[in-house]
Amino acid sequence: MSGAEAVAAEAPFAKPVGQPVPRASLRALRAQAAGCRACPLWRDATATVFGEGPARARAMLIGEQPGDEEDRSGRPFVGPAGRLLERALGEAGLERGALYLTNAVKHFKFQRRGARRLHDRANAHEQQACRLWLAAEWLRLRPRLAVALGAMAAQTLFGAGFRLSRERGRWIKLDARSRALATWHPSAILRTPGPQRERRYRELVEDLRALAQALDEAAPR
Ligand code: URA
Repeated sequence: MSGAEAVAAEAPFAKPVGQPVPRASLRALRAQAAGCRACPLWRDATATVFGEGPARARAMLIGEQPGDEEDRSGRPFVGPAGRLLERALGEAGLERGALYLTNAVKHFKFQRRGARRLHDRANAHEQQACRLWLAAEWLRLRPRLAVALGAMAAQTLFGAGFRLSRERGRWIKLDARSRALATWHPSAILRTPGPQRERRYRELVEDLRALAQALDEAAPR
């Protein structure tokens, strides 16, 4: 692929991917990503947690990075955050199986504390290295609608200046074809103390309802 093609093939993210984005089936991309060594996170992780869902999904949900259970199973959103997300999707009238679920970073990053593996946030270099896979998923699906779960995913789409507390729940145009909104990450909701936790959960459901409505209004693929 020439440089010009590589740039044209990039997904509509805030920062350029910076290298040619592979065009392939989800199955082939998953196999390629399983051998990714672009940042050090592969060394301690059990698996590359690639996205999951139909290639014809009309919406993509983008989380941050896999957690302990996702690393062990190799599937996104199967731990506590995933269970909260599924409850919220159900309340919003959405089916997980109809959506494409993925993460901005595809390896679990953690620090060992005895037998426990504690979540550690991927740094800017690790996020940038992984953008290639998110861009490849985006190119394969070309979704009209996307939801960023949490600040890391939101900043990948909208840039470092994006503030979830100010701009949550608002559709933002990404390019001529696609728009996205950002909402609370289910893990952040689980960590929120007191009555604010329920408030944020209700806002997550409200934002997912906005996605359900946009899907209803949009023309079928
Ligand atoms: N948090 C995420 O952002 N993604 C997962 O897959 C699990 C937890």
